[in-house]
Amino acid sequence: MEENLEKKIELLKQWMEQSGSIVFFGGAGVSTESGIPDFRSVDGLYNQTYKYPPETIISHSFYVRNPQEFYRFYKDRMLFPDAKPNRAHLALAKLEQEGKLTAVITQNIDGLHQAAGSKEVLELHGSVHRNYCTRCGQFYDLDYVLKSEGVPRCSCGGTIKPDVVLYEEGLDNRILQKSVNAIRNADMLIVGGTSLVVYPAAGLIDYYQGKRLVLINKDKTARDSMADLVINGKIGEVLGAAVGV
Ligand code: APR
Repeated sequence: MEENLEKKIELLKQWMEQSGSIVFFGGAGVSTESGIPDFRSVDGLYNQTYKYPPETIISHSFYVRNPQEFYRFYKDRMLFPDAKPNRAHLALAKLEQEGKLTAVITQNIDGLHQAAGSKEVLELHGSVHRNYCTRCGQFYDLDYVLKSEGVPRCSCGGTIKPDVVLYEEGLDNRILQKSVNAIRNADMLIVGGTSLVVYPAAGLIDYYQGKRLVLINKDKTARDSMADLVINGKIGEVLGAAVGV
């Protein structure tokens, strides 16, 4: 590992040791080391060619107009049932178990933080593990959606929709409020694996008032200048090394 990176990880480790209410805010880059592509990296989902741009397909109006096409894309490109938590997920779960981390706030919908053992996970964009009938509200798990042909149907005949925030849909205010409170009370905020271009999620980091804002990302982000520590590297390796998983 290059010397500069090692030094930064050492500093990250020290700050973690001195902190007792760490909050983590992450995005798709946290799951790429689990084999789930992100959206905006060069090999990300939005840079692959489809009949319609992916941002159009995973929108509310497209879902309503073309549920068949929506589900073909969604099942083909957004479900990774065999993905396993990587060192980043495991490191964050360990920090919570040690009573040092109060919440993981994620834009991801893959459930890997919970699979790694994290308890307080605030899912800003929902989860593929929760699916509800749009007519009667009946819950269905991911397996049911994976096994269904075309558009998944409820026993009542209604169509089943994933509990995932599509473009044009609002975020759950309860989750947003809990996220703002957690960040306001954090003595250390670690932001990682996110390009910080999608709002309101990206705006959450403005609620942090401390002096330990850490940005861990492969690429530069628009917020690098406001961070107290920027580490350009693979978040699984960085957090894994800092926490010892
Ligand atoms: N380690 C560190 N950073 C990584 C890694 C990694 N292993 N892999 C990717 N990254 C970085 C990329 O450099 C990129 O800046 O993670 C970032 C991922 O950014 P996006 O692909 O834009 O994903 P995200 O920020 O989560 O997107 C936010 O956009 O389309 C919506 O709802 C979708 O939740 C998503 C939201």
